[in-house]
Amino acid sequence: QLNAVIFDLDGVITDTAEYHFIAWKQLAEELGITFDRAFNEQLKGVSRMESLERILALGDQADRCTMAEKEALAHKKNEHYKQLIARMTPDDLLPGMLDLLRELKRQNVKIGLASASKNAFTVIERLQIGAYFDTIVDAAKVKNSKPHPEIFLTAAKQLRVDPSTCIGVEDAQAGVAAIKAANMFAIGVGDKEALKEADYIVETTADLTYDAIVRAFYRE
Ligand code: G6P
Ligand code: MG
Repeated sequence: QLNAVIFDLDGVITDTAEYHFIAWKQLAEELGITFDRAFNEQLKGVSRMESLERILALGDQADRCTMAEKEALAHKKNEHYKQLIARMTPDDLLPGMLDLLRELKRQNVKIGLASASKNAFTVIERLQIGAYFDTIVDAAKVKNSKPHPEIFLTAAKQLRVDPSTCIGVEDAQAGVAAIKAANMFAIGVGDKEALKEADYIVETTADLTYDAIVRAFYRE
């Protein structure tokens, strides 16, 4: 039985994954480090500081920075990111997402948010979709980051549903791994190869209809 759908935010509900990419890329270039979209797949779903560590390691600069310098770099990236999200409106919801949220509500399926971002509330506010969520679990409420299942398990617990009756929706490798580790049905949005651990994969959110996800869930 399907009791809840728990969504990742960045890259699933809205295309803030692109804004994170743009902001990191600019910071990396200032440090003389270049990275491509393939490398960026590894940053999706990963916390701010861990993302910075991975970028510095890529450029062989991991040991060159003090902790205070790393804090300053992470802060700089976030300032750029905040500028990008400040202009968001409800029009920035990805295709089909508003219909899906509405249909889940109509069908009495609970809706959760599991985002590693400290900016999650701001983004939800900009999109004006806060009322759809029965629970929101963000970076401030969990100790372990994805691929650890804690964030998805916390959402299920707050929704008072068994994880095996939940669908998790993710665009990140680390996120799909977290959903699977939580013993939920994993839906991946995006690249088939990057998200191959998922139980069901759609190329874009336009394919994420209520009927499609319910059919996929019960086929298992
Ligand atoms: C999400 C995104 C990551 C981002 C992380 C932290 O998981 O997929 O790209 O690094 O949140 O976001 P924050 O807004 O706290 O820097
Ligand atoms: Mg994501």
